[in-house]
Amino acid sequence: MTAGQDKQIAPKVWASGLILGTLAAICTALVAFTYSVTVARIVANEQAYLEQSLAPLLAGIAYTNNLSESTLVIPPPHALPGNGPAIVYRVYAGDEPVAALFVVTARDGFSGPIKLLIGIDTSMSITSVRILEHQETPGLGDLIESSKSDWLTQLDKTSLQSPSRDSWSIKRDGGVFDQLTGASITPRAVIKAVKATLLYFEKHRDSVFAVIPPPQDAATE
Ligand SMILES: Cc1cc2nc3c(=O)[nH]c(=O)nc-3n(C[C@H](O)[C@H](O)[C@H](O)COP(=O)(O)O)c2cc1C
Repeated sequence: MTAGQDKQIAPKVWASGLILGTLAAICTALVAFTYSVTVARIVANEQAYLEQSLAPLLAGIAYTNNLSESTLVIPPPHALPGNGPAIVYRVYAGDEPVAALFVVTARDGFSGPIKLLIGIDTSMSITSVRILEHQETPGLGDLIESSKSDWLTQLDKTSLQSPSRDSWSIKRDGGVFDQLTGASITPRAVIKAVKATLLYFEKHRDSVFAVIPPPQDAATE
């Protein structure tokens, strides 16, 4: 290539670079603008979805607060099931605490951790329990899911008084709760986690609803 041809090409390269750079800047600005316009709506939609998912756990309890804005994160170590932070959605009617929804993890499932959402009212009775995540075997351990069987409903309205706390285990272990045929490891893990959550709420009820998070105590698992 001659020196003359070099001189002709150089300005074209600069022009192309400038056009590409300008286009990239315009695209970035457009994406940033679209995000800033939609982010508030995305957050509102996410909160509405969370609200819709949590409300059925409360079994008709009247409440007035926005559940997704009453979140308490309890860092480990704590006595709730699971090694990681536990999440609690606090439920109020006016200023009065009426229930709490705990997201905890049973670590002793057959195939791995089982994530649970546990509703407990302030008289310490279970309102409802949902399975959020698990890897239990289809047709065996996965019958804990409320879409697969009604096994979980036996926990509704239970407390540490009814049945007595000594009876909080599956029948195979001398307790009152049904197991699943040929799969007792999964239900054992769920019952143990729900009992541990009831014990935690019984001990830390006031501090769960306090602004300052509850004191950390040694993990029991
Ligand atoms: C392929 C396979 C998958 C299994 N999946 C589960 C399960 O998801 N949950 C469970 O509790 N037991 C599962 N089991 C059964 C356990 O090995 C164990 O036998 C059982 O939980 C003990 O319950 P049982 O005393 O009622 O038999 C599985 C067994 C096999 C062979």
